[in-house]
Amino acid sequence: MQIHALGYLGFESPRYEQWLTFGPEVFGLQIGERGADGTVHLRMDDRHRRLSIHPGEEERLAYVGWELSGKAAFTEAVAELEAKGYKPDLGSSQDCANRQVQGLARFADPFGFPHEIYYGPTFTAGSFLPGKPMAGTFVAGTDGVGHVVFVVPEITPELEEFTTGVLGLEHFGGWTATTPDGSISGPQFYRCNPRTHCLGYVGVPGMKGVQHIALESTHLDDVGRAWDLVQERDDIPVTVTLGRHMSDTLISFYMRSPTGFDIEFGANGELLPDDFVQTNPSTSEAWGHKFVADGWAPTVRRIAP
Ligand SMILES: [Fe+2]
Repeated sequence: MQIHALGYLGFESPRYEQWLTFGPEVFGLQIGERGADGTVHLRMDDRHRRLSIHPGEEERLAYVGWELSGKAAFTEAVAELEAKGYKPDLGSSQDCANRQVQGLARFADPFGFPHEIYYGPTFTAGSFLPGKPMAGTFVAGTDGVGHVVFVVPEITPELEEFTTGVLGLEHFGGWTATTPDGSISGPQFYRCNPRTHCLGYVGVPGMKGVQHIALESTHLDDVGRAWDLVQERDDIPVTVTLGRHMSDTLISFYMRSPTGFDIEFGANGELLPDDFVQTNPSTSEAWGHKFVADGWAPTVRRIAP
C-alpha cells in the first residue's frame, strides 16, 4: 500500500477533559467539535480533527490513522491486508461518520497496536483558528500530523516486514540511543512522505506501549514559547530538554501529556529530497535532548514475560 501521511491519532483517557486547556495553551491546537460522549477533538489545520482524546477508564492508544490518497488506493490496500493475513475489519458507515472519513479499515500490527487506514477526511477550508496566537502554524496538511513512536519488546523480522512490506513505508534509519531506564536501544524509523519519519519502533525487552507523538510548527518561536511555558508551570513535566537529533534538523523538546504519553514539539524539520541517501549518525543527539524524566511514559508498560 502507499500511505502518504499519518493522518490522525486517537487515545482514551480518564483525563480527556484536561486536553481542553493543555492542547490550546501549550501548542495552539484548536478545540474542534466535541463528540457526543465528550470526546475532545483537537485540530492542527482545516481537517475536522487530528488528535482525538476519548473518555475511557485507562490511558491507552485507541487508533493510529494512516491516510491513503483515495478510494482506489484504499480498496487495493484492504485487499493487500487480507492477502497478507492482517484481517482488516471494514468500518461501518457509522464508524466512518465517527472518524469523519469516507472509508476506513482497522487492523493490528504484530504487537497488537491498533492501526487504521482511511481515505476522504472531512475538511472545511479556511476554518482553522489556533487555540492561542502562534508565530507560525502547524506542519500538517497532506504531510500529516507528525510521527508516533512505539516501544516493543523486540524489533522482530515480522515487524520490519509489517512496516516496509505491509504499510509500504521507507526505512529512514535507526541509531543507538539510551532509553529512560538507562538501557541501550536501537530505535528504527520509517517515512511515508518528505518528512523524515512518521513511525518509529524502539525495542526494549519486557516493555510495550506508546512512547511519544510529535507535532511541528513552521516557526521556532512557537517551540521556544512552549518551552518557556512548560518551565513556568509545574503541572507539565519536561521529559527531554530542548535539543536536536543528529539525523534530523528538527529542534524539539518533549513533555508528558495529561494522558501519559510524551509529546515532542519541534520546528525546523527538514523535508527530504527524492534522492535522499541514508546515513548513520555517530550519536543520537547533535546537542541537548537530555532525559530528565523519572522513567518511561506511563503508557509504556512492563508486559508479562
Ligand atoms: Fe520524535
